[in-house]
Amino acid sequence: MTYKVAYIIGSLSSTSVNRKLVGAMIADAPQDLEFVEANFSQFPLYSPDLEADYPQVATEFKTILEEADAVLIASPEYDRSIPGGLKNAIDWMGRPWGSNPIGGKPLYVVGASVGSVGAALGQAAVRQTLSFFNPLNMTQPEMFLQANADSFGEDGRFVDAGTQAFVKSAVEAFAEFIRRHA
Ligand SMILES: Cc1cc2nc3c(=O)[nH]c(=O)nc-3n(C[C@H](O)[C@H](O)[C@H](O)COP(=O)(O)O)c2cc1C
Repeated sequence: MTYKVAYIIGSLSSTSVNRKLVGAMIADAPQDLEFVEANFSQFPLYSPDLEADYPQVATEFKTILEEADAVLIASPEYDRSIPGGLKNAIDWMGRPWGSNPIGGKPLYVVGASVGSVGAALGQAAVRQTLSFFNPLNMTQPEMFLQANADSFGEDGRFVDAGTQAFVKSAVEAFAEFIRRHA
């Protein structure tokens, strides 16, 4: 059996280390996980005024999440919290009122930052917001990584073997969590 994992990158940066982090996870993920991105880069800023004409990009984002067995979010923290673009996407995701494409699904929130805090507070804020949607949070192993562009090799993995081994063990743990709960 194959499990579909929708992943969301919390950064709009074209050189995002969080996107690279997901690449490093996918590089060593078990074969029964299939990854598909739910991308929010073209979302308008949420306003109730726009809801009647619900954006196609948000519909596509929600459909990817609805069709997924599990959700992976890799995000930086901005000013010790959720980057605005990601929060905006979550606001759209829950509209119209009652929409919930992630309820009951295995969710793993991870993150990387150039700073030593490793996006820990941003991740906590993402989990707090998403708790409203009642996902099945995998809370261990916590992935608070300090990384920059030089942290990754040409094969997409972390240059540091210990870090890549940790990332591999984490994605294996997520796979096991999905097998048990999806
Ligand atoms: C507006 C803004 C706020 C930031 N705030 C934090 C912060 O609170 N903590 C932190 O560790 N890094 C912070 N950073 C640095 C980011 O962690 C760093 O730019 C990281 O590479 C962003 O992830 P990305 O490469 O996936 O976009 C901030 C960066 C920006 C642009």
